[in-house]
Amino acid sequence: MAAESSFRALRAVEKDEGFFVTEIQEMPLASLPDHDVLIKVRYSSLNFKDALSAHGHRGVTREFPHTPGIDAAGVVVECGSGAFAPGDEVLVTGYDLGMNTPGGFGEYIRVPSDWVIKKPAHHDLRYFMVLGTAGLTAGLSVDRLATTVKPSDGEILVTGATGGVGSIAVALLAKLGYQAVALTSKVDHSDMLVRLGAHRIVDRSYVEDLPDKKALYKETWAGVVDTVGGSLFSKAVKAINHSGAATTCGMVAGTEVSTTIFPFILRGISVFGIDSVEISKARKERIWQLFDNEWALTNLDGISHDISLEELPAAIEKIHMGKMLGRMVLRHNP
Ligand SMILES: NC(=O)c1ccc[n+]([C@@H]2O[C@H](COP(=O)([O-])OP(=O)(O)OC[C@H]3O[C@@H](n4cnc5c(N)ncnc54)[C@H](OP(=O)(O)O)[C@@H]3O)[C@@H](O)[C@H]2O)c1
Repeated sequence: MAAESSFRALRAVEKDEGFFVTEIQEMPLASLPDHDVLIKVRYSSLNFKDALSAHGHRGVTREFPHTPGIDAAGVVVECGSGAFAPGDEVLVTGYDLGMNTPGGFGEYIRVPSDWVIKKPAHHDLRYFMVLGTAGLTAGLSVDRLATTVKPSDGEILVTGATGGVGSIAVALLAKLGYQAVALTSKVDHSDMLVRLGAHRIVDRSYVEDLPDKKALYKETWAGVVDTVGGSLFSKAVKAINHSGAATTCGMVAGTEVSTTIFPFILRGISVFGIDSVEISKARKERIWQLFDNEWALTNLDGISHDISLEELPAAIEKIHMGKMLGRMVLRHNP
C-alpha cells in the first residue's frame, strides 16, 4: 500500500495564550516523527484524555499544535524493523500515542514497533476501537477485581457507568456472571445500561449523599469498579463488604481521595490501581485476546457511535460536560 504525501488530522491549536481550538489541517506525511512503523489509521476512538489534550491540558500534552488520539487501529504501510508486514492489521493504544506523539485523530501515525499489537483474529478493527483504551481499562479493572471477588460474593458497584470505561465494565461484569450495579447521574438512560447487562441502576446521588463524617457505611458491595475518583470513590470504599476489593482508574470527580483507615483494617478490603498506558505489551495483548475470545461482547452496538473528523469537536465538548454516553468511534475516510 503506497502512502499519500499528506493526510488530514484534527489538531489542537493554541490561538492565544491559554486559549485552544481544534481545527482540521492537511499535514505532510513527513511531519510525523521518525519511528519505524507507518500506519494508515482506519479507526480511532474518543477518550477522556483526548478531551484534555484537545483543550490544551499541559499535564497530557506539552507542546501545541498537536494531534490527539490515544487509540488507533489500522493497516501497516511500512515497517523499518521488519516486525510487521505491509497490510498487517494492528492496534496501538497508550504509551505516548496522542499525548506528545501525533495520535489517532490523524489519518496516519508513525510509532515504534514496541507499541504495535497485531489485531486478534476474530473481530474487526472497529470492534477493538469500540473498546479502545476505555475497554482495555475496563478489562484490566475487572481482571484485577476477579482475583479477589467472585460472582457469588455479591453486587459490584460501577461508578461513571454511562461513560466509556464504566459502560464496558458493566457489560463485561455481566458477561462474567457478576451482578453489576450501575451508578450514574443519567438514570434516564437506564435502558442502555440494562441492555449492557446492569443488574440494577442507582442514582449517583445515593453515594454522593452518604454522610461525610462516618468512618464506615453498611456493607453494601462485594466490589467496586471505580472510574471517577474523588469523593465518590472515597465513599464507595467505606461500603465494601469484608474481604472485598475496589479498582480505581479515573479522576473525573476529583484527584483527592479521603477515607478512614477502617475499611482496610476492620474489613480487610483491597484497592487496586489500574494503569492502561505503560503496562507491558504482553499484558495488553492478553486483554485484547480475552476480548476476542472468552470476553467477546456482542451488545456494544447500542453504546457505540461512528463519527467523522468533522463531528469530533462536538463529541469532545460532550466529554467535558460529563455528558458522554458510551463510546465514540472515529472513522477515517477509507
Ligand atoms: N488509568 C487509566 O489507564 C485510564 C484509562 C482510561 C480512562 N481513564 C480515566 O477514567 C476516567 C473515565 O474515563 P472515560 O473515558 O470513561 O470517561 P467518560 O466517557 O467521559 O465517562 C466518565 C463518566 O463519569 C461520570 N462523571 C462525569 N463527571 C463526573 C463527576 N464530576 N462526578 C462523578 N461522575 C462523573 C459520567 O457518568 P454518569 O453520568 O453515568 O455518572 C461520565 O459519563 C477518566 O478520568 C479517564 O482519564 C484512566
